[in-house]
Amino acid sequence: MNAAVSSVTPSVEEYLDLGLRDQWHPVLASWEVAANPVGITRLGENIVVWRDDQGQVHALEDRCPHRGARLSLGWNLGNRVACWYHGVEVRHDGVVEDVPAVHDCPMKGTQCIKSYPVIEAHGAIFLWFGIDPNEEPKALDFPEQLASEDWSAFLCQADWKVNHQYAIDNVMDPMHGSYLHCTSHSMAEGDRTAEMKHRSTEHGFVFEKEGQIGVNFDWVEYANTGASWLRLSIPYRKDFGPGGEFWIVGYATPIDANNTRVFFWRCRKVSGWQRNVWRFLYRNHLEKLHWDVLEQDRIILENLAPNARQKEFLYQHDIGLSRLRRLMKKEAEKQLKKIAALNTSNRIEMQEEAHG
Ligand code: FES
Ligand SMILES: [Fe+2]
Repeated sequence: MNAAVSSVTPSVEEYLDLGLRDQWHPVLASWEVAANPVGITRLGENIVVWRDDQGQVHALEDRCPHRGARLSLGWNLGNRVACWYHGVEVRHDGVVEDVPAVHDCPMKGTQCIKSYPVIEAHGAIFLWFGIDPNEEPKALDFPEQLASEDWSAFLCQADWKVNHQYAIDNVMDPMHGSYLHCTSHSMAEGDRTAEMKHRSTEHGFVFEKEGQIGVNFDWVEYANTGASWLRLSIPYRKDFGPGGEFWIVGYATPIDANNTRVFFWRCRKVSGWQRNVWRFLYRNHLEKLHWDVLEQDRIILENLAPNARQKEFLYQHDIGLSRLRRLMKKEAEKQLKKIAALNTSNRIEMQEEAHG
């Protein structure tokens, strides 16, 4: 049974605290998964991730079907992992391949463990968090800054002690650039007062300042193309090399209700020799400046008042994050209905089986 499908129905808020499903989420950088199985928590689920000898990444629920030991403490056997406790081997599709301690164990050959579809792209590992295990995952499309050869990107990631919705709010809030980051290398310029507006796009919407674009952090875009992402651009000084504006494509993956892993791809439109200049400059000079900015975001977010959302006084600059919150709430309600319907049909099936 899918871990999202439980008999206790969470409230919409509790459900959102652990993140939306039926979409892909980045969970790790590629470099973090080498020979040994890796145990992680994402969307409140414990997951073991490993790489087989062909380089293919696999992901299973991190729970041995025998007595619940963490499979991530066990052994990487290529297309399967072996539990450290008594050696049960679970294949990448969740089927028990072998129970070495007993002859003819009925567990052998049964599908006991949830497996996650995996896509590795742009230096990160994405997992599909589906509600109905019988449904195919959606296609995963990336914004141009990652998908196109004309761009060059660096992945940076960090774990923040805050719920993922606050990390999303923070990116949906361009006005903080002129205050929180006013001493930074890229956000010292422009008006400190603005009117904000939003407009729909094919896969989401843009939230932007009226009358000021290309001076500071002036706009942000939300979209869902199989995964939910945020995109923005910030102008760069001329001595920061070729490629014009600096772009960020970000994802906020819930670890649990109180922790988030943020993934930011830092991108510039550069190819040929310009790409080499950008990559050299970034590694030797710019990366540190960007980490300083990100640290300012982390400090604010990790120190928000407890349950800050329950006692807010939102104003005009917050209509972007309000729109995204409404959208996420609507999607959560839809997903909870889907889970309830799935639970009902599972119950009926079980009753029918019980009555022969
Ligand atoms: S708990 Fe894993 S083999 Fe016993
Ligand atoms: Fe920021």
